[in-house]
Amino acid sequence: THRLVIAVDGTSGSGKSSTSRGVAERLGLRYLDTGAMFRAMTWWLLREGVDVLDAAAVATAAGRPAIESGTDPSRPTITVDGVDVSVEIRSDEVTGAVSPVSAVPEVRARLLELQRAVIGDGGIVVEGRDIGSVVWPQAEVKVYLSADPDARAQRRAAEQGGSDVASTQQSLLERDRIDSGRATAPLTMAEGAVHVDSTHLTLDEVIDRIVSLASGTG
Ligand code: C5P
Repeated sequence: THRLVIAVDGTSGSGKSSTSRGVAERLGLRYLDTGAMFRAMTWWLLREGVDVLDAAAVATAAGRPAIESGTDPSRPTITVDGVDVSVEIRSDEVTGAVSPVSAVPEVRARLLELQRAVIGDGGIVVEGRDIGSVVWPQAEVKVYLSADPDARAQRRAAEQGGSDVASTQQSLLERDRIDSGRATAPLTMAEGAVHVDSTHLTLDEVIDRIVSLASGTG
């Protein structure tokens, strides 16, 4: 039988990961970070020496790495060819290259298949950019999470141990621009999504709001 799927999409640094993990823990659901899969693909391409701005080269290589995501919200893991790359995928190098890689249709098609296999019969919170629009449009709960760029940059810079707020903001906005502008599965507010602006909310308040949306669905 099919169980609950909660789709959490939104801009970079809007708090999707902390929120989605918190919701999954509160409701006893699994958790899938699809951004980590795009980052893992990007990490592998960089390591293989593939030019990440060469869409044809990226498309050809995209079928090769075996990418696996853990779904425990208290301990998210991601492996490439059996190697845990949870830390490596957060590097500035990967962050700077992930959006062009994610715009390549063959990359999206490959990861879409893996994402749907993990979602399976549900019981999961899935975060990304195109979950409610493309990956799982039938999700019972769809959230579009946003926050003002200043708030996003300040939170993200603090998370990274005090990196420069201005350059962090520039990097977030550049990713949003590419993610929203691509032809295949762009970042957008999915039909039926509830918009939650987290600018003036605490993490717990955002989690509460999503948990209450989910409690209305049975
Ligand atoms: O969520 P996170 O910021 O880690 O995602 C990294 C990048 O992966 C995004 O900027 C976007 O380019 C890509 N992504 C995507 N579709 C998703 C999730 C992430 O294109 N569903």
